[in-house]
Amino acid sequence: MSPEIAEAVRVLRAGGLVAFPTETVYGLGADARNVAAVARVFRAKGRPADHPLIVHVEDAAAAGAWARELPDEARALMTRFWPGPLTLIVEKADDVPTEVTGGQSTVGLRVPDHPLALALLRAFGGGLAAPSANRFGAVSPTTAAHVAIELGERVDLILDGGPCRVGVESTIVDLSTGRARILRPGGVPVEDVEQTLGTSVPVVVSDVRAPGTHPSHYAPRADLVAVDARDVDATVAGHRALGRRVVVLGRAAPGTTDVVELPEDPEGMARRLYAALREVDARGFEVAVVALPTEGGLSRAVADRIRRAASPRTPD
Ligand code: TXA
Ligand code: MG
Repeated sequence: MSPEIAEAVRVLRAGGLVAFPTETVYGLGADARNVAAVARVFRAKGRPADHPLIVHVEDAAAAGAWARELPDEARALMTRFWPGPLTLIVEKADDVPTEVTGGQSTVGLRVPDHPLALALLRAFGGGLAAPSANRFGAVSPTTAAHVAIELGERVDLILDGGPCRVGVESTIVDLSTGRARILRPGGVPVEDVEQTLGTSVPVVVSDVRAPGTHPSHYAPRADLVAVDARDVDATVAGHRALGRRVVVLGRAAPGTTDVVELPEDPEGMARRLYAALREVDARGFEVAVVALPTEGGLSRAVADRIRRAASPRTPD
């Protein structure tokens, strides 16, 4: 075991908080069976106590201990996508603390696909309750530096696994109601879930208090304006005419417009989106114009995050 994993395990066993990389975004991990440690996660994020946390485990076999039972659909999805960017919502086992589940009878389970996350989970030997390692309502961190900016002293240890490969959060599939539904499009395309289950799977707005499904979640300070690709130039010109500091997220013609680099394919957009939103704010732009992604792959997840980031903020 590497010294940093050993130290992380020591921190977790003592009830501390360890931020760790996953393939989607960085997580803020605590021992999911230690309710005091779980309470610290909520305090560190400024997150309301009724917003449930995902329990991360090392493999499908370990997931069984957290569920009352695993339906056939769960087994099929676990086999195909774990380790990977998929979270399954199932009825929880009786001994899963309700502090983790936001008071609900269901639990979210996921096996992340990142070598450091898996090494940590194996060495720890239990479940890690881990939301994205950002302050409540802020953009999820995709590098260790983002975590440090977001949480500073509130986290005891940050494991640095480099930039996240997927860049948007896991796809959440709810299997607790008898009919599979997607509560959050994410790193596994909706079509791939449907193909595995052999049926259409609706994407629904959760009736559970879910920060990732709040309309104004993931909001940067700047106004984000999402348009069709062909409308980018006119939109930029319009905002500039109003005297606002405008930037394009993408690949505008060099020299003509301020640009924050963002690939145009959905997977590239997913990987870079959150870092790009941070850069927009860091460089002090007032308006960021982004072309919505084309169809397929992670386009749904990317469009979902862009839409949320573009929603006007609700008053505090
Ligand atoms: O990719 C990810 O899922 C990342 C990495 C760190 O694994 N985690 C993440 O956690 O995005 P968080 O807490 O930021 O978002 C988890 C979402 C929330 O919207 C939460 O409400 C929902 O999952 N969730 C968790 N447990 C749930 C449950 N039992 N029922 C319904 N929704 C649940
Ligand atoms: Mg989050």
